[in-house]
Amino acid sequence: MQLKHFLQFNDFRRDEYEYLFERTCWIKQEFKQYRQYWPLTDRTLAMIFDKNSTRTRLSFEAGMHQLGGTAIYLSSRDTQLGRGEPVEDAARVISRMVDLVTIRTYDHDIIKRFAEHSRVPVINGLTDEYHPCQIMSDIFTFTEHRGAIEGKTVAWIGDSNNMCSTWLQAAEVFNFKVHVSTPPGYEIHPEQIDLSGAAHFEKFANPHQAVVGADLVTTDVWTSMGFEAETERRKNDFADFCVDAEMMALAKPDALFMHCLPAHRDEEVSAEVLDGPQSVVWDEAENRLHTQKALMEYLLLGKLSTAK
Ligand code: CP
Ligand code: NVA
Repeated sequence: MQLKHFLQFNDFRRDEYEYLFERTCWIKQEFKQYRQYWPLTDRTLAMIFDKNSTRTRLSFEAGMHQLGGTAIYLSSRDTQLGRGEPVEDAARVISRMVDLVTIRTYDHDIIKRFAEHSRVPVINGLTDEYHPCQIMSDIFTFTEHRGAIEGKTVAWIGDSNNMCSTWLQAAEVFNFKVHVSTPPGYEIHPEQIDLSGAAHFEKFANPHQAVVGADLVTTDVWTSMGFEAETERRKNDFADFCVDAEMMALAKPDALFMHCLPAHRDEEVSAEVLDGPQSVVWDEAENRLHTQKALMEYLLLGKLSTAK
């Protein structure tokens, strides 16, 4: 089987996501029925994390266990990576001992270098630039609630961070539109995002204009991991970018609200919206488990001809 990595959203084609979402539906249903499904017996996942995590860590560890395999969590603080072992050497060694690797780190270049020297598939569990596992779950969640995302409008309000860049890639893969509204000084840099063009996004200075007619409104923290020194300045710069009920009212009446979590109530999103009826944030979080189980199955076993 050809070695495949999942480092950014556009590493997969749309038909591959369609296959993954079909598998996700089946895997989720089996899980809900307490039916055992162990296609990855004796397989091992190494999880190398340089940053904190609740959802990503738990969904990969629990997911691998539920598929019959084992997950080993490696905090960079405890490994030789944390003492300066070259990432290329770590990749050569780790990938001789395990079947699959998930990495959460800072610079995307680190995960690229690891993948180039790995014998086994590598999954991006978040870098400063991208968070493809989260957007895979978000699009699956949108589809569960509203059907196909093709032709729809997603409003991104806030920072031009890893989540924003991944939504922009996803818009090209699934053919939808992203309305992006960021404060001055925090604009997107499309040339750094590996996009094929500018046809799938539109920039808005005013966040209220960006949400008009949106099918989905989404945001994220104002300060991502690694940027903590800027927290106070960002609170000031993003003050007009809180997704509140007044802003949601400008979107379509059946618009959904998403946030990858963790969230700060009454900063980037009002408590009323986060905990309100349009919010599907808990489904997004749960679907990390189911979509990533389909992803691990696909990377290790390929497309199953007997897929249920
Ligand atoms: N959304 C997400 O990736 O959450 P964690 O940082 O808790 O993994
Ligand atoms: N943009 C956030 C996402 C956390 C899941 C961060 O990188 O910290």
